[in-house]
Amino acid sequence: IRPRLGWSLPRVFAHRCGGALAPENTLAGLRIAARMGVRAVEFDVMLSADGSPWLMHDERLERTSNGSGRVCETSDATLRVLDAGAYQHPAFLGEPVPSLASAALLCRQLGLVANVEIKPAAGFEVLTGEVVARQVREFWAGTELPLVSSFSEDALLAAREVAPELPLGALYERPPDDWLTRVNRVAALSLHCDAEQLDDSVLSRARANGIPLLCYTVNELGAAEALFRRGVMAVFSDRIDCVRDSSEIFLP
Ligand code: G3P
Ligand code: MG
Repeated sequence: IRPRLGWSLPRVFAHRCGGALAPENTLAGLRIAARMGVRAVEFDVMLSADGSPWLMHDERLERTSNGSGRVCETSDATLRVLDAGAYQHPAFLGEPVPSLASAALLCRQLGLVANVEIKPAAGFEVLTGEVVARQVREFWAGTELPLVSSFSEDALLAAREVAPELPLGALYERPPDDWLTRVNRVAALSLHCDAEQLDDSVLSRARANGIPLLCYTVNELGAAEALFRRGVMAVFSDRIDCVRDSSEIFLP
């Protein structure tokens, strides 16, 4: 059984919450995405030293916060007081690193559907998959579950074990030759890949097997439209001010 989405698939996901219009992976990004009329968001989730999931892309804190060191070696108490906004613009000073719980709550309040990307630090693939799956199930209880994706097959398998009902996405830069076998192994709903690494053989095999293909990171409207014409179902974009499409696809 391949768990399906309980929502129709929007054409555009704001990448890392609010794309380039906000500091990445922040609640400010979610608010801006909603205000821009975007219905879907993608964000990255990594574990702290205490094993709690936080929105964070990099394994280290330096680029997107005023902290330093590895996220997986940083306590919840330290993460809770970091600033994750000012690196992008002084107007975002005071923006916290969100916990998965706070992002889930805000998505629900704003009516956003989500793609939660499990982003394990090296060596924490299984644990991150398990914790994120458990918390996604808890925080989205009683509402439509998000799409949960990862570059890590171990994380996806662990998530599948913990929460068999989760819709999963298998994520690659360039899909390997055996991507369909891998997608089927985790009973993933969708295949996600780098738009620049996409070739027609992947597209035709995805179409023939009824696997929706989603591509990152697409920052020009023309490029997004060209991908949609080729059969790509949705794109992740940093430029939600430019890449707009309000149509949605019902995936049976
Ligand atoms: O999930 C799509 C995209 O976010 C994957 O790349 O590095 O931005 O997480 P990255
Ligand atoms: Mg991501």
